[in-house]
Amino acid sequence: MLLSLRDVGVQLGGKPVLQAVHLSIAEKASLLVTGPSGSGKTTLLSVIAGFLAPTRGTRETTLTLAETGFVFQTLHLLPYLRVQEQLRLACYATQKTYDAHWADHLLTKLELVEKTGAYAAHLSTGEAQRLAIARALVHKPQLILADEPTAALDDVNCEAVIRLLQETAGATNAALVVVTHDARLKPYFSSSLVLKEGRALA
Ligand SMILES: Nc1ncnc2c1ncn2[C@@H]1O[C@H](COP(=O)(O)OP(=O)(O)OP(=O)(O)O)[C@@H](O)[C@H]1O
Ligand SMILES: [Mg+2]
Repeated sequence: MLLSLRDVGVQLGGKPVLQAVHLSIAEKASLLVTGPSGSGKTTLLSVIAGFLAPTRGTRETTLTLAETGFVFQTLHLLPYLRVQEQLRLACYATQKTYDAHWADHLLTKLELVEKTGAYAAHLSTGEAQRLAIARALVHKPQLILADEPTAALDDVNCEAVIRLLQETAGATNAALVVVTHDARLKPYFSSSLVLKEGRALA
């Protein structure tokens, strides 16, 4: 097992945001988490990543943060770094060798090759979202976590992104967890969990 949450609860601002969540993520697992706005999806992903400590329950994993690739809902790109520099920085921060061939592959699949030298500040919203995906994958993490990775994308790019996430997870033997309220993603996953008011329904 790569990671397990047992009876996890999170309180934020005195309010229960996650309650009694049990979740196991096996090697090479692929999981979709859905639920309405405010149901706790981002909070759950933050606990899985290790960014947020649960108020109760336990999180067990053998992974280090460097083995996690995270697509943030709010992207968190650095505006005045160029596309390629953002990818190099992700490898530097995780102490992984920058694989130019792999980076080019990701940028090609995400239709960002022509933007390699562009500053993040000058990308369109959809391009920025695709860059955030490349950045999460460039260091070949064992666990890929993506928070609403298709929110700003049209149908063609939505399909390309979800296929790239799955192909990359397959090629690098990584586990993939996507959280979303984008109904377009449902058909791509055989395993899913629904969050409602901080509780996992199934
Ligand atoms: N730091 C915080 N302090 C207090 N409340 C918070 C904090 N962060 C999140 N919340 C609350 O926790 C609940 C769950 O938030 P979360 O961001 O996990 O939802 P979500 O399912 O990701 O929503 P969305 O689909 O809109 O992204 C919300 O009611 C939110 O207001
Ligand atoms: Mg969210």
